[in-house]
Amino acid sequence: MDEKRGSFTGKIGFVLAAAGSAVGLGNIWRFPYLAAKYGGGIFLLVYLVLAVTFGFALMCGEIALGRKTGLSAIGAFRKLDRRFTFVGYLASAVPMIILPYYAVIGGWVTKYLAIFCLGEGTAAASDTYFTHFISKPVEPLFWFLLFIGATALIVLFGVEKGVEKVSKVMMPVLVVLTVIIAVYVALMPGALEGIVYYIKPDFSKFSAVTVLAAMGQLFYSMSLAMGIMITYGSYMKKDVNLESSVKQIEIFDTGIAFLAGLMIIPAVFVFSGGDETALGQGRSLMFVTLPKVFESMKGGAAVGALFFLLVLFAALTSSISLMETIVSILKDKLSWSRKKTCLIVLVGVALLGLPSSLGFGALNGVKIFGLPFLDFFDFISNSVLMPVVAFLTCIFIGYIIKPESLIAEVEGVAPFKRKKLFCAVTRYIAPVCIVLILISSVLDVLGVFQI
Ligand code: TRP
Repeated sequence: MDEKRGSFTGKIGFVLAAAGSAVGLGNIWRFPYLAAKYGGGIFLLVYLVLAVTFGFALMCGEIALGRKTGLSAIGAFRKLDRRFTFVGYLASAVPMIILPYYAVIGGWVTKYLAIFCLGEGTAAASDTYFTHFISKPVEPLFWFLLFIGATALIVLFGVEKGVEKVSKVMMPVLVVLTVIIAVYVALMPGALEGIVYYIKPDFSKFSAVTVLAAMGQLFYSMSLAMGIMITYGSYMKKDVNLESSVKQIEIFDTGIAFLAGLMIIPAVFVFSGGDETALGQGRSLMFVTLPKVFESMKGGAAVGALFFLLVLFAALTSSISLMETIVSILKDKLSWSRKKTCLIVLVGVALLGLPSSLGFGALNGVKIFGLPFLDFFDFISNSVLMPVVAFLTCIFIGYIIKPESLIAEVEGVAPFKRKKLFCAVTRYIAPVCIVLILISSVLDVLGVFQI
């Protein structure tokens, strides 16, 4: 792959490709439920602060690492310091953990698209529909296999370009539709309270767990701490302004997440008065809330179908990019053919995703550390592995290769405006904060110390 490494054409091409991979279920499904659960405005504030500090520094650092070395994660770390090759491996493990459960949720989205296409949206608007669906013994498995099968076919036949072209049209439509739904919800009685909850920070709800949740979400949503941005950087041309590209990707990604929250959280207040259980329901929030919104709308069935179709595309482009990453890592390491690697990855992901998919139905009651499989994989990648990789990456940049070596890479075309911020975050702020947050959350999970 390396010998014919192509480049993105110009800055727009780079920003669109990186944002296309970054925008997905993380923005639309995960961000709103975390914001709802962790206190609304305070979560949003912590997230924004982390985005302009940690997110900014790490994304600049990863893209610069990739562009400097022209290699993906494992190769990039190895080239600069052999002792840190393991960080490349750790980072590469993240997509392998994420993809199986990502595809389970992709399957849920596909099911909801089918419901709205078949005109059964009314049934989905009931409180128990979603729980009933995921606790069925086999049905979720069918949708999961359909979603991952479609992803594998696209990767196997190398038609990603086609899908990407379609998704470039879909994404702006998704943004416009989200704005329309958000405005529609805002005009419903009771929505104002929800908007205030989402926007106004309540500092009494601040805790280390909020910061950890926001940090994990930031990495997940911006595809950081998993080697992806290093790979993207390796395809970035030297004459593209790295710093402003990072700024644009961040604005894009955060903007979409913010809009998704603005569409879902006030709706929770409209339909359930914003009580704690409704706000804290986690992974089911989008699937339970939005059908109620569509149900109350004239022509809601069509809007619902269009919405889930657009979300499905966003999910599909992300899952394609995740699978593509895994396939290319294994293909390069083991020198298997592309076809063989695709098939093996498909089987591996299907097997790994199986417990996540069945975890609320046939395997209900089987828990790891008290969590259903899906939540366990989500926890391991977002709250453990990604912060660890981010920490090691900061140590690597801050003390081994030194920030100056990457500043030179960023400064190719224009001065690095926020280089002081970049140095301070990678050397001091991020490593210290990540360690503190990790320790306190591990203690919290173990129940040793109540925060
Ligand atoms: N950032 C994606 C989202 O918000 C999810 C994701 C995580 C991803 N890792 C990735 C996408 C790797 C593409 C490649 O949904």
